[in-house]
Amino acid sequence: MQYKHDIRYGVSSFLPSVRRVALVAGGAVLAGALWWRKHPSACPYGQRFWVQPPHPLITRARLREVLAPVPGERVLEVGPGTGYYTLDMAEWVGPTGRVDIFDLQQEMLDHTARRARERGLASITATQGDAQRLPYAEATFDAAFLVAVLGEIPDQDVALAELARVLRPGGRLVVGELFGDPHWVSPRRLQQRGERAGLVFEHRRGSRLGYFARLRRTASAAGR
Ligand SMILES: C[S@@+](CC[C@H](N)C(=O)[O-])C[C@H]1O[C@@H](n2cnc3c(N)ncnc32)[C@H](O)[C@@H]1O
Repeated sequence: MQYKHDIRYGVSSFLPSVRRVALVAGGAVLAGALWWRKHPSACPYGQRFWVQPPHPLITRARLREVLAPVPGERVLEVGPGTGYYTLDMAEWVGPTGRVDIFDLQQEMLDHTARRARERGLASITATQGDAQRLPYAEATFDAAFLVAVLGEIPDQDVALAELARVLRPGGRLVVGELFGDPHWVSPRRLQQRGERAGLVFEHRRGSRLGYFARLRRTASAAGR
């Protein structure tokens, strides 16, 4: 009897501390997310487990629908991570097309290139660098896309202007965002930033929770 009482006493004194630990942990996660949002930086290769599972709402099928890739096109993907969308995009543009992947982290590019080789895809070209300065000539691409990347870039306006520059007049840019990502960019903010870069907001698929937005480069965007 004495033993039972002791156990009960132990459990009841233990519970508040569990609650406290949970609260502190939750607060720390929230504080980390807010800090990360205020200090944009790339998701490190060591944390690639965030981008490898299926992407709810921003699915590959939906990306295909919104970007509407055509065989033979040259498409730029900024921030491919481990290539969640890249390999399918290479199949959609076919062997006469080309997908250029561009990422800050060489390890992400190597990872994606390795997966492409395993799938027998030869039309992917990798280049390392910062999206705030793209090493491509004006009007190089028919289309470009970036998913869960824009908010990681310190100066989004500069990156969008660079994307507009390397797109051919009339070229499409698709931006994908998933709510919950600390770097999530709202559709409204994207539209405003796009307009400043000479990109007309055409339409959005999905909800604010997870969406792909399509913008189009206007003729006057070049050389901004
Ligand atoms: C959250 S991951 C998204 C990966 C992939 N798009 C996906 O949805 O699975 C962000 C990617 O963008 C890249 N990135 C972040 N900032 C960048 C920058 N300034 N220039 C180029 N790539 C950048 C990161 O290295 C990383 O590969």
